[in-house]
Amino acid sequence: MKRLIKVGGRHRKLEGWPLLFTILTTISVLIGGVVEFIPLVLVKGNVPTISSVKPWTPLELTGRDIYIREGCNNCHSQQIRPFRHELERYGEYSKPGETIYERPFLWGSKRTGPDLARVGGKYPHLWHVRHMEDPRSTSPQSIMPPYAWLLRKELNLSHLPAKMRVLNTMNVPYSAQEMENPVALAQSQAQEIANEVAAQGGPSNLADKEIIALVAYLQRLGTDLNATSAD
Ligand code: HEC
Repeated sequence: MKRLIKVGGRHRKLEGWPLLFTILTTISVLIGGVVEFIPLVLVKGNVPTISSVKPWTPLELTGRDIYIREGCNNCHSQQIRPFRHELERYGEYSKPGETIYERPFLWGSKRTGPDLARVGGKYPHLWHVRHMEDPRSTSPQSIMPPYAWLLRKELNLSHLPAKMRVLNTMNVPYSAQEMENPVALAQSQAQEIANEVAAQGGPSNLADKEIIALVAYLQRLGTDLNATSAD
């Protein structure tokens, strides 16, 4: 009994020195934090990889930056929750491993428009071109604003090599080929998509326009999960 009182007394005394007490508390919280945090970062198994999920191609990466620039994520989430009504509407729910190459991620929760996590492949390329030019031409009651300038504005790929280098330092596994000549790769993918748009009856001069990068990005969204992977 006597001892207990003595211990309590020492703690009381410590509480009476606010500065020292704050310092000691901070140190113990930091130690606890480090013990919890370090394994989370170091243990590789904590990152839920899915082998069929690959990084964005250079063109899709450019399209993603246009998506961010235009604020599409203010109205569209990219995260399907595991609820029946979401699965019925959007498809398979989003897995953490699907977005490991996202810097920054665009999950969001604001849904003025529908979730886009699995919009890839839902429509032909031309649908997206028409929808961006004038949303009401494809969805008559749409309240989405038009982005017609994307069909006119030239695609700027000059920052692409630097962007790829930065992502590569953050462990996004780009191949040597992608790292060496991202601009040429982006241009050839853009040409392919532009040809398809033209073949579907759309404008034939879009290969070097921003809209093509955005379409490339949208058409990739959510498709990796069920992609047949080579490895
Ligand atoms: C003001 C809110 C708003 C903004 C900003 C917005 N959208 Fe939308 N979006 C909507 C609404 C509402 C719909 C549903 C009606 C429609 O299809 O247009 C929609 C539909 C879509 C669809 C079709 C989804 C589907 O499954 O049918 C796509 C793709 C899309 N938006 C892409 C974009 C892109 C890309 C941007 C940025 C360039 C963007 N949206 C910006 C509100 C918005």
